[in-house]
Amino acid sequence: MQRALLLLIPVILFLIALLFKEKKNNISIQKEHHTMYHIQKIDPHCAPCFEKYVEDVINKGSNIFHYPTSPMPAGTVTPEEAKKIAAFMATLQGFKPSHPEWVTEGRYLFYGNCIGCHSNEGKGKEGYFPDLTRKPLKGIELLSKG
Ligand code: HEC
Repeated sequence: MQRALLLLIPVILFLIALLFKEKKNNISIQKEHHTMYHIQKIDPHCAPCFEKYVEDVINKGSNIFHYPTSPMPAGTVTPEEAKKIAAFMATLQGFKPSHPEWVTEGRYLFYGNCIGCHSNEGKGKEGYFPDLTRKPLKGIELLSKG
């Protein structure tokens, strides 16, 4: 009888571990809904990750800050233009862009399409529109913590 009880302990521990895992998964799914794009964690020193984050925000929109002005609308430019803007924005961070030949056009697209909201040369307005020249971007800082 005692033996049987001892054998039950690992089984119970296993079930508890499963339960925790389930809970963790739920949290990450919620987080995905919350951010509206599908990046879980970002290394703030990774240049391609930066460009991917910016492209995702432009293409899919974003709603992580719950500003009165949120969400940022999805698809205000084409995905090709988003890549060029991301290349330009990489230079604002001191990153080497994946395609340096896109930077000039990306700068035009940025000034033409983005600073209407992200005013003040892209520096935004605290509590309304995030500063796109901040290093790291606020969203990346948040996502770098997982
Ligand atoms: C209609 C207003 C509006 C326009 C136009 C707009 N944005 Fe935004 N943007 C926002 C708002 C509001 C947020 C904050 C969204 C949130 O809560 O996640 C945001 C967030 C962002 C972020 C995330 C910033 C961070 O700190 O992580 C990036 C990157 C971004 N915008 C880039 C752009 C680019 C590039 C363009 C031009 C193609 C653009 N935005 C056009 C309103 C706008």
